[in-house]
Amino acid sequence: MFPKLLSVVLLALVASASSLTITPHVRHEYRRSIPSGWNAVHRASPTAVLPLRIGLVQPGLEELEKHLLDVSQPESPNYGQHWSAGRVAETFRPSKQSVDTVREWLHSEGIDASRVKLSKSGGWIEATVSVQEAESLLKTHYSVYEHESTGTQHVACGSEYHLPEHVSKHVELVTPTLHFDVKLKREPVEELEKRVSKPGTAKTIGQPGHGVVVPKTTGRINIKSIFQELSQCDQFITPNCLRALYKYVYVPLVPNKNSYAIVEYTPQAYLASDLDLFFKNFSSSQIGQRPNLVSIDGGVVQTDQTGFEYNGESNLDLQFGMALVGKKQPVTLYQVGDIPQGASFNNLLDALDGSYCTFEGGDDPLQDGIYPDPLPGGYKGGPDCGTVKPANVISTSYGYNEADLTPAYTARQCAEYAKLGLMGVTVLYSSGDNGVAGNGALCLNPDGSQTNDGKIFNPSFPGTCPFVTSVGATQVNPGAKVTDPESACMQVIYSGGGFSNYFAMPDYQKSAVKNYLTKFPPSFAPNLWNATGTSRAFPDISANGANYVVAVNGNFSRVFGTSASTPVVGALLTSINDARIAIGKRPIGFINPTIYSAKFAGAWNDVTSGTNPGCGTPGFAATPGWDPVTGLGTPNFAKLLVQWLLLP
Ligand SMILES: *[C@@H]1O[C@H](CO)[C@@H](O)[C@H](O)[C@H]1NC(C)=O
Ligand SMILES: *[C@@H]1O[C@H](CO)[C@@H](O)[C@H](O)[C@H]1NC(C)=O
Ligand SMILES: *[C@@H]1O[C@H](CO)[C@@H](O)[C@H](O)[C@H]1NC(C)=O
Repeated sequence: MFPKLLSVVLLALVASASSLTITPHVRHEYRRSIPSGWNAVHRASPTAVLPLRIGLVQPGLEELEKHLLDVSQPESPNYGQHWSAGRVAETFRPSKQSVDTVREWLHSEGIDASRVKLSKSGGWIEATVSVQEAESLLKTHYSVYEHESTGTQHVACGSEYHLPEHVSKHVELVTPTLHFDVKLKREPVEELEKRVSKPGTAKTIGQPGHGVVVPKTTGRINIKSIFQELSQCDQFITPNCLRALYKYVYVPLVPNKNSYAIVEYTPQAYLASDLDLFFKNFSSSQIGQRPNLVSIDGGVVQTDQTGFEYNGESNLDLQFGMALVGKKQPVTLYQVGDIPQGASFNNLLDALDGSYCTFEGGDDPLQDGIYPDPLPGGYKGGPDCGTVKPANVISTSYGYNEADLTPAYTARQCAEYAKLGLMGVTVLYSSGDNGVAGNGALCLNPDGSQTNDGKIFNPSFPGTCPFVTSVGATQVNPGAKVTDPESACMQVIYSGGGFSNYFAMPDYQKSAVKNYLTKFPPSFAPNLWNATGTSRAFPDISANGANYVVAVNGNFSRVFGTSASTPVVGALLTSINDARIAIGKRPIGFINPTIYSAKFAGAWNDVTSGTNPGCGTPGFAATPGWDPVTGLGTPNFAKLLVQWLLLP
């Protein structure tokens, strides 16, 4: 017996020795500077508890673009053959080797297996660790940061964190580490340690003034002045103006087989009385009609706080989105996040795709809404995870500055947009309202920080993700007729546009952008913008974004923004889906490879005047063909419908 036992022991020793790989730490992620307004105030308490979440690499991600193009390129034999959610999840599920490698590493660092969990999706490993343990695991330091103007506190590590080389290969990103939000909701300072030790920090994409793409208003207007609708589209944009501008007349044939969702982040909310006020004037058959509410992570259409900053966005999106698709086509409202906490884009994506759902080990509690929400009045239900079947078209009028987020965070989210495209979903985002500057008119400095006196152009995200369709803004020029060519929007807001600093240029736009850069080379110094000619350029398309007549709080106001342009494009694309579904074809899905193709060239109204000022410059110029102000131009619905019906 003895020798045998010994050999077992020896074998075990050999086994553990061979699996215990020790490699040097390598830098895994870094941040060039902390977001504007934040300062480190002191080191985080070593005993505070962090819900460390380790996102595993998704195998086959390098094939993702190829798969997406296979179903989205108009000339592809598999055009429209979208994948099921199950196939997407299976294809990109992290490997057992990745799971084992991370588990073994944590174990070898003294993190007991009982503290380590694998998420349901298999994509994330979660370990509850102290700040001290996290600092040793990641060879970094955690500090408490404070926001200058709001006093909000936030815990994050220094400018970089590290992983052993053999682990790094299996990891996309670790949270909470470098990732900051633009601004967090103000919370009492004494809440901080509690916040670190339990999930539940604010995600404020829906908070007024919190770095969102908010529509702007020039105030109330007297409805009596809107009578001569089509002759006054230069002053008042109504649904009929948009129909005239974009040759958009359509009655849905199979509305119940089709879907269009508009996303709002709590506390942004629509007011039912405002919808009716709008419908009464502009779409009387829809009086009493409401969007179908899909509440995500406790999303509520709150009515406690009202005013333009709470109702402007939702009212605008729903009034125009619903009126344009018409009474027959139901519109879904994805209302995301509860009142105390709010939510981020990741919360929406979790709900749309169970394989992205990261609650058990993925979302960054300092970045994303975490549910159940322990805050008073918070949503006590579990997080929505794969609970919502994505609509065919999803329109979002909110956005960040790319520089607010780390490249790894944006890359992971961008890959998810590609997966939605693979499933046949069209994802639309506003391109921003500050021209070449970012939200809050912030521009970049050479060290990567963002300030109002920065000089470097500041692109927006998710518009720079090559797998979303970014929508810019145009205007009917003052004094012009609705049949005259539009310009880039230069009233109240400027169309967001430019070149990404994070994402490479996708093939589908290479020739369009090259045309712009060679025929109309911008005169700005190459250190002011990403002049490499190799980075993702945006927006892709545009639509009117000036002088929208919106009912807000019982009166009509004039509203401006790419926020307005996006749901309008969403409505047109929804009608195109209806026509395709009615003849047994698939929805249009990820449209970018199609819209840049030669056959679609004549289906856009090219916008060739106006610029998008920002960062102390006049911005880029709208030119013949694609440009980084208005993209390919505005839609000609009648022509687009024909082209899309011709595709398989
Ligand atoms: C719009 O509504 C106002 C207030 O109810 C009404 O006075 C006006 O006649 C309406 N205008 C149109 C064009 O329906
Ligand atoms: C320009 O964009 C590319 C992505 O194509 C990126 O690799 C590069 O770092 C960017 N340059 C700057 C200065 O941000
Ligand atoms: C609408 O505006 C008018 C003045 O333009 C004001 O008298 C009225 O109180 C407003 N209505 C609401 C509901 O705010």
